[in-house]
Amino acid sequence: MRLVRLARNIVFDLRYGAFLGGVIPTRYLGTGAVNVANSDYAVLPHLFDRLIEHDDVLVDVGCGKGRVLNWWLRFYPHHRIVGIELDGEVAEKTRHRLRRHSQFDRMVMRIATSGRNTPSCRACSILSFRAPP
Ligand SMILES: C[S@@+](CC[C@H](N)C(=O)[O-])C[C@H]1O[C@@H](n2cnc3c(N)ncnc32)[C@H](O)[C@@H]1O
Repeated sequence: MRLVRLARNIVFDLRYGAFLGGVIPTRYLGTGAVNVANSDYAVLPHLFDRLIEHDDVLVDVGCGKGRVLNWWLRFYPHHRIVGIELDGEVAEKTRHRLRRHSQFDRMVMRIATSGRNTPSCRACSILSFRAPP
């Protein structure tokens, strides 16, 4: 089961340019930030399917390497999508990876420095979501 889930995550990742697995220890430990880890795609429909409405702006606060962004690009291509990531290096890699997608012009990658950077939103993905083992 775990292998099947891993294989599905890899296939979905690769459709959006790169395998995103693996954890990067946070460089901001002192601030209480969590590591750069990844959601399981299997969990995401349960979170978003009934929540998202047609005019929502989708904001992933702590988008990391971007699995939730990939999911939204695939299933919510007409929404404005915003990724906010504390780690500038990770944010830049994610922005660069997604730059060629046709939906990319709807995506802004911002580095959160204060509440003022956060756009108002109805549907937010906060940190990550994992399927049970
Ligand atoms: C578990 S990971 C992200 C998983 C990602 N949402 C996904 O779906 O695969 C959590 C991320 O939140 C970021 N983070 C932690 N505190 C943050 C903050 N205050 N503002 C923005 N990003 C933050 C971390 O750097 C890390 O990349």
